[in-house]
Amino acid sequence: MKKVTAIYPGSFDPPTNGHLDLIERGSKIFDDLVVAILRNPEKAPLFSLAERRLMLENLTAHFKNVRVDIFDGLTVDYAERVGAGAVLRGIRALSDYEYELQMALMNRKLQPELETVFMMPAEQYSYLSSRLVREVAQLGGSVKDLVPAIVEQRLREKLDPAVKLQHARKSKAGKRA
Ligand code: PNS
Repeated sequence: MKKVTAIYPGSFDPPTNGHLDLIERGSKIFDDLVVAILRNPEKAPLFSLAERRLMLENLTAHFKNVRVDIFDGLTVDYAERVGAGAVLRGIRALSDYEYELQMALMNRKLQPELETVFMMPAEQYSYLSSRLVREVAQLGGSVKDLVPAIVEQRLREKLDPAVKLQHARKSKAGKRA
């Protein structure tokens, strides 16, 4: 049977438990899944591309058929470059539908052979978005259970310079020991 590679494009700023839930579901139905982080010059992200890539690589290392990449330009062109036949996107609520439908149909217009596959994350993540996670974390709220522990830690380091300093001192001391 023909192998199907899918791309899962997005901003992942930062990756959430909802993204990971979708990656796990996608990894079960596609032969290969490429988590593709968009290099978007129009957005000023909280995490750099390298930081997001590292977090996602760390979080998906146990999936043998998942890899992480960075892309720019059109999603359809990137899909062609990596030989993908499908685009995976998550739909959380009805409110996502209009935007996702528009994107899927535009992608179909640009590349009729490329299919968009929508999957629903687990219901406990149905209200979760990177934007809300950033906002809650920036305002000092807890994002526990919403993002993986390493993302929670990176958010703390990023938003609280004192934590970052402590971390740097510890690793310096560790290197000296
Ligand atoms: O996580 P996001 O920000 O909702 O992801 C949006 C993304 C990256 C899937 C979308 O912005 C995208 O595909 N951008 C690439 C540019 C492109 O192909 N535009 C035309 C498709 S509508």
